[in-house]
Amino acid sequence: MVELIITENESKPEITISNQIKKFAINGLYGFNTIILIGMGRRLGIFNYLFEKAKSSPSSGKYNEVIFTPIELSENLNLDFTYLDGWLHLALECGILEISNSEKKILKTAPYVYDLLIDRSNEFYIGGTLGAFYYMAPAQDILIENFKTGNVWSILDLPGDIMRDLQERGARFGTLVERLFSKKFEFFCKNLQKRSIIFELGCGYGFNLETWAKKYKKARFVGIDIDPIALAHAKKLINKNNWNERIEIFEMVIDEFARFFKEKFDLIILNQVLHEMNTDENYRRDVFKNLYSLLKDNGILLIGESMIPDTFAPEKRFQLFDITHKFTEVKASLFYNEKSFREFIDITPFSKANFIKEGGDSIWVIKK
Ligand SMILES: C[S@@+](CC[C@H](N)C(=O)[O-])C[C@H]1O[C@@H](n2cnc3c(N)ncnc32)[C@H](O)[C@@H]1O
Repeated sequence: MVELIITENESKPEITISNQIKKFAINGLYGFNTIILIGMGRRLGIFNYLFEKAKSSPSSGKYNEVIFTPIELSENLNLDFTYLDGWLHLALECGILEISNSEKKILKTAPYVYDLLIDRSNEFYIGGTLGAFYYMAPAQDILIENFKTGNVWSILDLPGDIMRDLQERGARFGTLVERLFSKKFEFFCKNLQKRSIIFELGCGYGFNLETWAKKYKKARFVGIDIDPIALAHAKKLINKNNWNERIEIFEMVIDEFARFFKEKFDLIILNQVLHEMNTDENYRRDVFKNLYSLLKDNGILLIGESMIPDTFAPEKRFQLFDITHKFTEVKASLFYNEKSFREFIDITPFSKANFIKEGGDSIWVIKK
């Protein structure tokens, strides 16, 4: 028999049933469809097309909207018109698009959609994050199986195109990490602008290296990763930008790299890598020992990572992205919160760990 526990709150409900309907049904339906539309729009090349169109338009500077017709999209992207019409109709309903001229069947992006979902370099761009959540849907089968079996899976088992999108989202955090770090450590970053050498452990598809290399133009970079598909993509980015003289990447594990590489680094970056590493504490401590040996005495180890609070001591701040991160990568990953990460640093050779938080962004700045 099911036991019914009446709490004080339940006897005096403050929320009406229609509020709850709005929360679960209406917000849920719009949210779900918006995510599906964005994910599909990215895969079909619609957002890329609108980006290129805006960039090649004669009006330079800021774009508030991109104007286009369904026929134009169908022809340029080689997409079936009837299916495309369905996507466009739903995009109007979800507020991604608006009608510009109904007689001539012309559409436009809704206000700020260009900044938020299309222009990857915009400071408010969230297309990568929303695009990554889209993959929750195809990942369902793996998740459901794991709930039942408790299996440990590897994030590296995901197909390359999913990984690429997920890493693009992770690298977006890297941009925020760089922004916060350069704001708080202005002097250190001025020196990085000179002839410095920077190491990224877990450079993956190279998106984060690209952000840093564009900003620190005189710095040299070295990246390692264990995923050959990711490194092949990173290599393409390096070639495209003519950075072969400045950026070296290796498919290598850290202890092998620490033995082989003879220089020491001014800055070591781990952006969204820590949680993906082998969850064994001794393994992670050894990784940090190697990082310690690779860092100059006055160097900095910079860590950008989702810090996830205890389930039963949730934070009041907005934390949906972090929690979804934990949910989708549970058992494939091990996340920390501020307290448990400090405890971890205590068992490594590093002595100073500074947690810096501003708005929704945070970084760990760790020194010898
Ligand atoms: C979320 S991605 C982040 C990639 C990159 N740092 C960025 O921000 O664009 C995490 C990367 O860490 C790599 N990784 C996980 N464990 C690793 C390890 N032990 N050594 C090196 N790379 C590792 C994965 O292969 C993956 O490419």
